[in-house]
Amino acid sequence: MSDRWWRDAVLYQVYPRSFADSNGDGVGDLAGVTERLEYLEWLGVDAVWLNPVHPSPNVDWGYDVSDYTGIHPDLGTLEDLDRLVSEANARGIRVLLDLVPNHTSAQHPWFRQRPDFYVWADDVPNNWESIFGGGSAWEYDDERGQYYLHNFAVEQPDLNWWNPEVAPEFERILRFWFDRGVAGFRIDVAHAIYKDRELRDDPVIPGLGMRRRYSMFRPETHKILQRWRTLAETYDPPRLLLGEAYSLDVEQWAGYFGEHGDELDLAFAFMLTHADLDAAQMRTVVAEIEAALPADAWPCWMGSNHDIGRLATRWANGDDARVRCALMMLLTLRGTPCLYYGDELGLTAGDVPASRILDVAEPSRDPGRTPMPWSAEGDWHDPWLPLADTSRNVEDQRADSDSTLQFTRDLIALRRRIGDLHGGAYVELDAPDGAWAWRRGGRAVVALNLGDDEVELVDIHGAIALTTSRSHEGEVVSGRLLLPPSSGVIVETV
Ligand code: NOJ
Repeated sequence: MSDRWWRDAVLYQVYPRSFADSNGDGVGDLAGVTERLEYLEWLGVDAVWLNPVHPSPNVDWGYDVSDYTGIHPDLGTLEDLDRLVSEANARGIRVLLDLVPNHTSAQHPWFRQRPDFYVWADDVPNNWESIFGGGSAWEYDDERGQYYLHNFAVEQPDLNWWNPEVAPEFERILRFWFDRGVAGFRIDVAHAIYKDRELRDDPVIPGLGMRRRYSMFRPETHKILQRWRTLAETYDPPRLLLGEAYSLDVEQWAGYFGEHGDELDLAFAFMLTHADLDAAQMRTVVAEIEAALPADAWPCWMGSNHDIGRLATRWANGDDARVRCALMMLLTLRGTPCLYYGDELGLTAGDVPASRILDVAEPSRDPGRTPMPWSAEGDWHDPWLPLADTSRNVEDQRADSDSTLQFTRDLIALRRRIGDLHGGAYVELDAPDGAWAWRRGGRAVVALNLGDDEVELVDIHGAIALTTSRSHEGEVVSGRLLLPPSSGVIVETV
């Protein structure tokens, strides 16, 4: 296959409402992202993924789409998107959008004009539960006198992919954006899309709860991913399909790459985000993924996103040394890393008081969605979510050669310079308790000490290319490598 550019890439997730505000209305926008392209190019990322940018009543902040080929007025216009794509491309940065094919907003014209695009039943037909709210996934609609399915919020009716007219609509949507130069899509709930045709009950496993066997994870979904992949590959370069295939069952997850490597190009590895920043846990997860993946499949690693919150809090409790270990890991495993805006600063969860919470989900995801602190002053005027703590900000960290931001930038540059760091095979090395070490191809060794005691690794030969503490860089290692607690090293091997 031609140019699979994403395999060597570093992706960067932008939550548009919170990234950069060009017009001072407190809501980030597309022109704001364009203004900050200089920063993204300086950081060294290859592509940005924008969370949904389409018109939406914002019950679920863009994941309730009411027009798939428009731009939300809060965020700008189609011209702003075109300008972002062309200016990003001019800087060597590609733009990915978010595709939401499982459900629309109830305000989408289809809901009234094409009710056959949705899933209806005369009575509540099964035990399916809504992810937001946890009650029944069926809601009575007075106007139609029937119940409709909503796996997420009541305002997010699920599409009926058994209707053969739904798929061509989405192919039209994909083409619309691909033709405008959009480099690919992150696909929302890529494991759902089709629902069981017979609407059978989800099984309830004693002690474990409900398993979404029929409301999601249907085999027919694979056919849709294959069709999209075929479509994406008619473009040059091929457009990227990056799936939110949210399964913690590694075999099931690996299936979304396709039996013949003909489905997703990349799938987020949520199993890693469910592990602690602990050597034993993480190396086990990575070993399982490496063993389960089809030979030609490429995982996508992340530690934060707009749903799971910020890695600096979840994994590191605000400790910059551990944040750097996490970043070193994400950027040197075999696969494509995806940073969430602010990860490069070690940004922690924002403080969002109960009175300011806007999220539909419980617990609220808003602390992971607060505005990007561009400077100590914040650079925001009355933002839509509070920006309480600007102690980690771009301006200060850019000026400080010891900062986490500079560390991340150097890490990205090193990953680019040493080809094996992105392309080489992953081979786990022996390491003492608390540590985790691996070789990438023939040119690099990564060693992390995530434990509380100093450890010693042996049989490592080369030059220290980068350390989380920024000390000892350039020194030669001839066999023994000592690692203090919460530290990591990349050795360019000989
Ligand atoms: C996953 C998205 O990441 C999340 O933010 C959203 O609420 C659900 N899908 C529903 O679209």
